Amino acid sequence: MSDKLIIFDTTLRDGEQSPGASMTREEKLRIARQLERLRVDVIEAGFAASSNGDFEAVKAIADAIREVKVCSLARANDRDILRAADALKGAANPRVHIFLATSELHMAKKLRMTREQVLEQARLSVRYAHKLCGDVEFSPEDGYRSDPDFLCQVLEAVIDEGATTINVPDTVGYAIPELFGDFIRMLRQRVPNSDKAVWSVHCHNDLGLAVANSLAGVMIGGARQIECTINGLGERAGNCSLEEVVMAIRTRRDYFKLDLGVDISQIVPASRMVSQTTGFVVQPNKAVVGANAFAHASGIHQDGVLKARDTYEIMRAEDVGWSTNKIVLGKLSGRNAFKARLQELGIQMESEGEINAAFARFKDLADRKSEIFDEDIIALVSDESVTPEAEHYRLLSLSQHSETGERPHAQVSFAAGGVEHHAGSDGNGPVDASLKAIESKVQSGAEMMLYSVNAITSGSTESQGEVTVRLQLGGRVVNGVGADPDIVVASAKAYLSALNKLQSKAERVAAQG
Ligand code: KIV
Ligand code: ZN
Repeated sequence: MSDKLIIFDTTLRDGEQSPGASMTREEKLRIARQLERLRVDVIEAGFAASSNGDFEAVKAIADAIREVKVCSLARANDRDILRAADALKGAANPRVHIFLATSELHMAKKLRMTREQVLEQARLSVRYAHKLCGDVEFSPEDGYRSDPDFLCQVLEAVIDEGATTINVPDTVGYAIPELFGDFIRMLRQRVPNSDKAVWSVHCHNDLGLAVANSLAGVMIGGARQIECTINGLGERAGNCSLEEVVMAIRTRRDYFKLDLGVDISQIVPASRMVSQTTGFVVQPNKAVVGANAFAHASGIHQDGVLKARDTYEIMRAEDVGWSTNKIVLGKLSGRNAFKARLQELGIQMESEGEINAAFARFKDLADRKSEIFDEDIIALVSDESVTPEAEHYRLLSLSQHSETGERPHAQVSFAAGGVEHHAGSDGNGPVDASLKAIESKVQSGAEMMLYSVNAITSGSTESQGEVTVRLQLGGRVVNGVGADPDIVVASAKAYLSALNKLQSKAERVAAQG
């Protein structure tokens, strides 16, 4: 059995299914480039048939990424498969990933199909996909809750038809590590042609066991591919977290004895990029990428680490990319220095016009903030206003007054589709007043599900505030993110960014899982 463990990143597909995490084509492309620098083995770029936007995003990633295999999800039907193959035409290394539910519950209640029909559809879909693409992955959705006899029959059939990777999903996060490992081993033993495919695991985190289950799938079951996402992003409680699973295998190489292609120094930059793009803040005590992951608060621990780091540290912060937290530019830095720093951070801009717009924003920020960190630059380019065509609403100016004992008041000017609006409102606080002022003109009727403020760089009140606003309207949930040294301004930007996302009408078919 191979010692190489394949890291299959699905941040841009399963991760994007988190409520409000949907990303634009440009945002996905930027993250895909970071995943390429991280040297994952496979990028699942999206679900091409789910919407035109997803098709375009998969296509853009397939055209741009050369070093990593690019994959699109597809349901088990010819239209989806053709759409996936079309989107992947420009890829150096394409993969089509077909899924079809095999549990009694999903077949009876969701698909309304018999076992015979599911078996036939699985067989025909893989046969068709194999004609279009040499690399076909098959996932029996809700595989872990499927009848093992039936599952073995389906998996044998799809391997016969040309599936080269068999991915076993624990779609609802129901598995327990030892049982899941045994399940994978049992499948590999009972499926007669199991040696013709790479076995993969795809675990959801509903019981907080996704990483443990994936590792058990590898160690007990013999899987050689793990599907995971940056920051564990994903529907409900999310997916197996890439940074945790990778660092477990790296740190305990003595036990796992597996080779990984991942460049771990890119883990923290990837985590930041995904968090800033989606508005999903990383909890401070999150392993590897949380702000406190390497902070020692207790005196005894601090003393120990000063004497010998390995008294309390099993990994080094700088190895996973924490060292990037340094001052990089200031107000005297020129356009070339800015452009070079963008390149070092792996941020590619499509046109000189985009660089100019980003540089103008950088200058504006540098006037108000003496030290500019990498995180500030990433936030700056994540800001939608770098690509004005993506914006319907844009903040022009904001002033607010708050004083002890008085009701705060805000005055906001913003553009909507090129037309200027001015609005004022009172509120419980300056943020509330500003958002109420905007809403009084826009009248979106959206319900606010979440408002959160986070410091982009830790350690001082000079940091920019990064605000996430989650809005819900007519069943759609979107996250807006805004950054500014003034958190009231950041809040108004975040609110307008969420309204911009609600404005984009793109309908998509939801993938399961
Ligand atoms: O969780 C799941 O079952 C999935 C499949 C589409 C692979 O995401
Ligand atoms: Zn899933």
